[in-house]
Amino acid sequence: MSRKIAIYPGSFDPPTKGHLDLIARGSRIFDELVVAILRNPEKTPLFTVEERKEMIELLTSGYKNVRVDTFEGLTVDYATRLRATAVLRGIRAISDYEYELQMALMNRKLQPSLETVFMMPAEHYSYVSSRLVREIAAMGGPVGALVPGLIEQRLRAKFKTPYSPNKSQSKRATKKPKRTSKA
Ligand code: PNS
Repeated sequence: MSRKIAIYPGSFDPPTKGHLDLIARGSRIFDELVVAILRNPEKTPLFTVEERKEMIELLTSGYKNVRVDTFEGLTVDYATRLRATAVLRGIRAISDYEYELQMALMNRKLQPSLETVFMMPAEHYSYVSSRLVREIAAMGGPVGALVPGLIEQRLRAKFKTPYSPNKSQSKRATKKPKRTSKA
């Protein structure tokens, strides 16, 4: 039987706990999952593609069937080059659905043999988005509940902000040093 390869395309700027949750779920249903970071010349990202690739590689090193790559151009062309049969995307809430449906149907029009598979991240990540994480981190707010520790460190280094826990975070989280070295 042929190996089921899926790509998980996105911006991942930065990767969140929601993305990691989806990678964990995807890795369980596909033989190989390729996290594919789009090189988008139209956007000025917070983290370079190389930084995002390195961060996701570190965060997914425990998965034997997950690898990280970058791509340019159409997702369907990239998927075809990899012989992937599915595109994995996360749906957090109804608000995601319209955009995701449009993209899935357009991708199907472009490449009918490629299926889009939607998965829901754990409900406690349903409000987490990279955009909000960037906004909160830029203003020195706490993002420890939203992104893995490594990403939190990189965000603090990027914005040169001190650690700023909120009251609802756990005792363990508040025991962290006020400032860590740059990652
Ligand atoms: O994480 P994002 O920003 O929601 O990911 C969007 C992404 C990268 C999946 C989408 O913009 C994409 O597939 N871009 C590649 C160009 C392309 O194929 N466009 C047509 C999509 S129907």
